Amino acid sequence: MNRVRVLGIETSCDETAAAIVDDGRLVRSSVVASQADLHARYGGVVPEIASRAHVELICDVIEQSLVEAGSSFDELEAIAAVRGPGLAGALLVGVSAAKAISIARGLPYVGVHHHEAHLYAAMIEDPELEPPLVTLIVSGGHTLLVAMDDHGSYRVLGETVDDAAGEAFDKVARFLGLGYPGGPAIDRLAREEGDAEAIRFPRPMRGEGHDFSFSGLKTAVVQYVRKHPEADVADIAASFQAAVVDVLVDKLVGAARETGIDTIVAGGGVAANSALRARLVEVGAAGDLRVVLPGIALCTDNAAMVAAVAAYRLAADGPTPLEAPVVPNLRLV
Ligand code: KG4
Ligand code: ZN
Repeated sequence: MNRVRVLGIETSCDETAAAIVDDGRLVRSSVVASQADLHARYGGVVPEIASRAHVELICDVIEQSLVEAGSSFDELEAIAAVRGPGLAGALLVGVSAAKAISIARGLPYVGVHHHEAHLYAAMIEDPELEPPLVTLIVSGGHTLLVAMDDHGSYRVLGETVDDAAGEAFDKVARFLGLGYPGGPAIDRLAREEGDAEAIRFPRPMRGEGHDFSFSGLKTAVVQYVRKHPEADVADIAASFQAAVVDVLVDKLVGAARETGIDTIVAGGGVAANSALRARLVEVGAAGDLRVVLPGIALCTDNAAMVAAVAAYRLAADGPTPLEAPVVPNLRLV
């Protein structure tokens, strides 16, 4: 690939982010303004509040990304933004900003798929990494097991039939009174005070193909607490987390065995989970599978991954037409 400097923008949910990445792998800057505080008192992301906050933050965040990279619009080869999946009004802010810069500066615009971006976080983590890979993308909205056969060539092996893994973390955390966002709260409590073997929660769909289901596990937690109101919240959190991690790791490793692909990768907010990361490190240490785990800031929503994937999409497919709309339920394949 020729040397390409890309400005990436991410506004699909409640993070306003911009980043400068060279050649799809080298991060010059990555700025993330989280709106979590704005949504916390509602217990989840409020779409209108997210859109408005993106509008207020986007110009400063883009400017900051240029300043931190010591760069300017003149040095860019392309401008990219996530065009789906995500909240329509939130996506529109980042995509509109990217298109405006594209027109004003005569730069190609690249509309990016949010999950494909999560997958490319691993390429930033390990600049030598190349497909084929088996990847687990676990976020607030999605749980996907994907075989990446080549750049731009994906097979979705499995996905959730109900709640996403992050959604289950957020719902269980809310039920336990741990606030929003729930994943980091459960992770912390489980790590500091919880006994993961205290309660044996079900491992839904374990050993049954590549799809996932988390809604029954959430119900099992609710039923357990109703029956045992005195139970220790940290033990519940740790036991719930252990059930999720068992299923995720089993299915990821199972997919690698079945496809014969020996490098596995995780991405998305739930890949920041310390118990999941510890288990994946064990899998890697066991020998026959290579495990690439992006750093935590690359797992949760960020724009470096957007700029990274855009360099590949631009080289392979050329610019995205400016008429291309945002697509809130955009499919990967
Ligand atoms: O990828 P992401 O930042 O945004 C989406 O694309 O959805 O993922 C957000 C999700 C939330 O559900 C959040 O609770 C979860 O990732 N999450 C975690 C952790 N950090 C974020 N879940 C478990 N453990 C964590 N440490
Ligand atoms: Zn995400």
